[in-house]
Amino acid sequence: MRCLVTGGAGYIGSHVVLHLLEAGHEVVVLDDFRTGHPEALRRVQELTGRPTLLVRGDVADARVVARAAAGVDVVFHLAASKAVGESMVRPEAYFQNNLAGMTGLLEGMVRAGVKRVVFSSSAAVYGSHARIPISEDSALRPDSPYGLSKAQGEQMLAWMARSRGWSAVSLRYFNPVGAHASGRIGEHAPHPTGLVPRVLAALLGQRPGFTIFGTDYDTPDGTCIRDLVSVEDLARAHLAALPLLREPGHAAYNVGTGLGHSVLEVVEAAQELTGIDLPVMTGPRREGDMPVAVADPRRFREATGFEARDGLLDMIASAWRWVRANPHGYDTPRRRLGEAEPLFA
Ligand SMILES: NC(=O)c1ccc[n+]([C@@H]2O[C@H](COP(=O)([O-])OP(=O)(O)OC[C@H]3O[C@@H](n4cnc5c(N)ncnc54)[C@H](O)[C@@H]3O)[C@@H](O)[C@H]2O)c1
Repeated sequence: MRCLVTGGAGYIGSHVVLHLLEAGHEVVVLDDFRTGHPEALRRVQELTGRPTLLVRGDVADARVVARAAAGVDVVFHLAASKAVGESMVRPEAYFQNNLAGMTGLLEGMVRAGVKRVVFSSSAAVYGSHARIPISEDSALRPDSPYGLSKAQGEQMLAWMARSRGWSAVSLRYFNPVGAHASGRIGEHAPHPTGLVPRVLAALLGQRPGFTIFGTDYDTPDGTCIRDLVSVEDLARAHLAALPLLREPGHAAYNVGTGLGHSVLEVVEAAQELTGIDLPVMTGPRREGDMPVAVADPRRFREATGFEARDGLLDMIASAWRWVRANPHGYDTPRRRLGEAEPLFA
């Protein structure tokens, strides 16, 4: 099959591209590298021995999308801005990139005659009122402009299904972490905001310590609880979703493990795994953070047979391997890249 991956040079997109290539599909990537990196695609090519076609451009531009989508069977739409906290202070930027991006995508797909799409949605569509574990039937009441942009993206796809007979699947990712087992591709985050990248940056000595935002939540240890899913499992979920595109319609599925880990638990596991002690500070809650976000993953499992494989330690270990080999992500000076170093103390 020929697939278009928007945002294919990003963290999750590069893993999806790798898995599609390994499964024998042809891949076109559309990316403008605003947060992604061309080196990710070069390494995917190196790991798989297979080329990807690159169209460099903005997904909001329907003409660019139509060109990239020509002859394509399925689109995986990952290109978007993703930081919940940033969306609280710059909502207009999130509506612009995520909603104008979706509009450009839809128009471009119509022009190219492509009718099948897998969309990167998020647990952020639910908001903090949702009962745990969160099922897909929970009402969508996002706490952030980011979450709203994803909920509206899903609704646009539901209308494309209804009005134009498209097949669309929205995957509501919980908390993607980790990296490819090779340590060659991972999250390029010069200013990390995610839990695991911030912990690992502190363990590497790039930050003076780790701050837990909010220790007074109504949880057993007072810190937020997250459903961490490995980026490798997530990439596999995209391939597992393909058979769902046989019939017209739109459906949304949680992609998580169903297991919750507290922020404190993750910090302690990372210290134990690396053998490095970390100064841990506490700070106030961050606006927009859900106290607990744990998926009910059954619907996707029942529809596709997909089951997440990696546990907490696997995810921290692969992320650690990636940051040790690439302390500045894809901007790590070349002489360091691939340098053999002991990974664990
Ligand atoms: N990482 C997470 O925690 C998380 C959680 C839930 C959902 N998601 C969603 O998954 C998707 C991928 O996230 P990620 O973590 O890989 O982020 P990322 O920032 O690493 O990747 C996004 C990619 O899209 C590209 N991009 C962004 N806007 C674009 C535009 N207008 N035109 C062309 N390219 C553009 C970027 O250059 C980058 O390569 C996003 O849609 C995000 O909202 C991510």
